[in-house]
Amino acid sequence: MRVFITGASGWIGSAVVPELKTAGHEVVGIARSDSSAAALVGAGVHVHRGTLDDLDLLHRLASDSDGVIHLAFKHDLAFSGNFQGAADADRRAVEVFGDALANTNRPFVLASGTLGLALGQVATERDGHDAFADAASNAGPETRRATAELVLSFASRGIRSSIIRLAPTNHGNGDNGFMAALVDIARQKGVAGYVGDGTNRWPAVHRLDSAVLFRLALENAPAGATLHSVAEEGIALRDIAEMIGRHLNVAATPIDSEDANEHFSWLARWVGVDSPCSSLVTQELMAWKPEQVGLLEDLDQGHYFNEVK
Ligand SMILES: NC(=O)c1ccc[n+]([C@@H]2O[C@H](COP(=O)([O-])OP(=O)(O)OC[C@H]3O[C@@H](n4cnc5c(N)ncnc54)[C@H](OP(=O)(O)O)[C@@H]3O)[C@@H](O)[C@H]2O)c1
Repeated sequence: MRVFITGASGWIGSAVVPELKTAGHEVVGIARSDSSAAALVGAGVHVHRGTLDDLDLLHRLASDSDGVIHLAFKHDLAFSGNFQGAADADRRAVEVFGDALANTNRPFVLASGTLGLALGQVATERDGHDAFADAASNAGPETRRATAELVLSFASRGIRSSIIRLAPTNHGNGDNGFMAALVDIARQKGVAGYVGDGTNRWPAVHRLDSAVLFRLALENAPAGATLHSVAEEGIALRDIAEMIGRHLNVAATPIDSEDANEHFSWLARWVGVDSPCSSLVTQELMAWKPEQVGLLEDLDQGHYFNEVK
């Protein structure tokens, strides 16, 4: 297939691209900087210069493709306080993909997340695209959730649309996401913190296992499928903190919830969340079996603790 992928230069995308190419697919991407363009060319991607806001370009590349994987998200905008702006841009891009792919039966795969689904219970693929109870106080997540619902509705417009909800930590060597942030905070604060008794759980997956699932979804996911890229259902945050503490030689320490904002900064919202998640339906439906190391073992390999990444 000729696959158009947004976010090909990102953490997930840079694993999905070789997975697609190894399987014989041709890959087309966009780049908004010289460095991302160079990285994509090096990875064998046909590169077009442009951004998520170039809606005509997105429409043309999607129309010319046999399928689209949408991974780009304006994390820089979202994490600098304008989540709503990032979610709005994402929504506009998704609407364009819907128009370009309508009545083609071609695949469209969207990346989403598991964190905050069915809080306190093991979330499954059957749970709706629900986010935090306090999402109303922050409209951005609401918009992103509605975008996920829109993508599922594309199934009724002749698009083989699917959503992959990713565990909050797609770990691996070079990670700059949540796990790397927890390590940085522990290094800065001199303690590896967790909230309360630290028994709250996060699911996890290795990004190479996620890459395989994106390829399988592109090739085979039934229209309207919600899939979970989750290898481990739930790992207690205290176990994560203890592993981080051991490698940084700092104590794993409970942080009072009232001090969490100051301690964890932008991560505070998520560190205390109990959000385990299953992928049994996905594994059966897609014949997907995660094969990479688990999170704690990955942390124990030491690469997260190199000062310079
Ligand atoms: N990583 C995780 O553990 C995780 C967990 C749950 C959900 N997700 C979701 O999975 C998707 C991929 O995540 P990721 O970790 O790979 O993110 P990432 O490493 O931040 O990569 C984001 C990608 O989007 C591109 N991008 C950002 N703004 C853009 C713009 N204005 N125009 C065009 N491209 C733009 C970036 O290009 P540049 O190279 O130019 O920066 C990069 O390729 C996202 O939707 C994310 O929210 C990720």
